Amino acid sequence: MNIILLGPPGAGKGTQAKRLEDRHGMVQLSTGDMLRAAVKAGTEVGKIADGIMKRGDLVPDDVVVSIISERIDQPDARRGFILDGFPRNVAQAEALDAMLAKKGLKLDHVIQMEVDDEALVERITGRFTCAKCGTGYHDTFKPTKAEGVCDVCGSTELVRRADDNEKTVRSRLDTYHKETAPLLPYYEKRGKLVKLDGMAPMDKVADKIEDVLAAEQRLGG
Ligand code: AP5
Repeated sequence: MNIILLGPPGAGKGTQAKRLEDRHGMVQLSTGDMLRAAVKAGTEVGKIADGIMKRGDLVPDDVVVSIISERIDQPDARRGFILDGFPRNVAQAEALDAMLAKKGLKLDHVIQMEVDDEALVERITGRFTCAKCGTGYHDTFKPTKAEGVCDVCGSTELVRRADDNEKTVRSRLDTYHKETAPLLPYYEKRGKLVKLDGMAPMDKVADKIEDVLAAEQRLGG
């Protein structure tokens, strides 16, 4: 099954994508993660993306479309993929439609996670991640069991993203409302959109996503 998790910054797209990977063996394709890796590695793409991401603007469409197209061609994506952070505007959605048609692939669902802006700011400014194994945490909602130590791998290297400060978060939210929200009618018209309450606790959101996937399987998708 191939799905898009759509929602504003901090909606829980990454959190739920990881759960789907663990539960169903699907592959998380996060343009944000790919761009951050490019920035860290100092590649040409990374040099283009660095300042743009720090401002909370969108990286040029041709850059993200080409990294997603290459990633979807990797053999593991045949198990089914979760697009996390892509597409982010109508031009990217149209490019995705064309790309999937060319590759003979289909999009099953676009799951929109709705969360209030103020809750998003709180979620993002409290977020941190284990640099070693990638497990995500939150100061209030999901703290580590022992302070400063990753529950999963024991690493003490817990990091915060450069764009997770309040000023950039507000700019990312602005970008979301202007550029990404038009994707809701885009996918609604195509009968792909499923909305769910992203304000619910993480386990409840995961259950709702499972319901969507199970309904699709019952229909033989
Ligand atoms: P990207 O990395 O995609 O960031 P984002 O969309 O801003 O989303 P986040 O990763 O911040 O949030 P999330 O929804 O994954 O939430 P999470 O699960 O971590 O993009 C970063 C930048 O890259 C962009 O600004 C842009 O510059 C560039 N970019 C990326 N893709 C692009 C594209 N296609 N085109 C152009 N530019 C692109 O959860 C957040 C926190 O909340 C966590 O701490 C979590 O523990 C907690 N949490 C999660 N769910 C819940 C819940 N239900 N209840 C309480 N807490 C929760």
